[in-house]
Amino acid sequence: MIQIVPSILSADFARLAEDVARMEQAGATMLHVDVMDGHFVPNLTLGPPVVKSLRKVTDLALDVHLMITDPDKFAPLFIEAGANQVAVHYEAATHLDRTLRLIQSLGALAGVVLNPATPVTVLEDVLYLADYVLIMSVNPGFEGQKFIPNALNKIRRLDQIRREQHLNFAIEIDGGVSASNTAEIVRAGCDWLVAGSAVFHSADPGATVKHMQHLAELATAVSV
Ligand code: DX5
Ligand code: ZN
Repeated sequence: MIQIVPSILSADFARLAEDVARMEQAGATMLHVDVMDGHFVPNLTLGPPVVKSLRKVTDLALDVHLMITDPDKFAPLFIEAGANQVAVHYEAATHLDRTLRLIQSLGALAGVVLNPATPVTVLEDVLYLADYVLIMSVNPGFEGQKFIPNALNKIRRLDQIRREQHLNFAIEIDGGVSASNTAEIVRAGCDWLVAGSAVFHSADPGATVKHMQHLAELATAVSV
């Protein structure tokens, strides 16, 4: 099922519970949580206490995106705080196989993230293990950046490999996603579309999620 996944990085951190409730009412099933450490990316965001607080106010799946240099150390703390799925950057994980298995052993789905300059081919020996692959369509660190169209080629390649090898990892995209590119992203083979500024900086965030979800479902119908 195609999902629009609101990224709380663009929400109002002083009114997080209200923004999350609006996403629930709009029919979202997952929330994207961006964790930045000021080392792997040039920005700082939030830690496990925020995930713990979110867990208390919502049943939505918490999709934690770790943009940090030491995922093995911190992934367990986010899962303990209530994360349902945790994605680590290929570029940050020294022993990616071990890290994915660690996340799964703690009961969460394990994802691997690729920066725009990292080719899909590096995942050849880990796709059978990953629950999902997150393709960055901006360089990670900030909301509101311009979509890098080459991400669509990477998604097409991944979707092709998935079909050829009968694998069932989900494909997620993150960065510069809006109503204007939703249809082509879905047609490329993407399942989960993360959207931050397009949702929370719109006049009616709930209506924007519903609109993008509708566009995504229309695009699926056309491609079949
Ligand atoms: C960027 C983050 C994204 C961010 C996307 O490093 O990983 O999740 O929230 O924001 P938009 O949708 O505004 O590009
Ligand atoms: Zn993200």
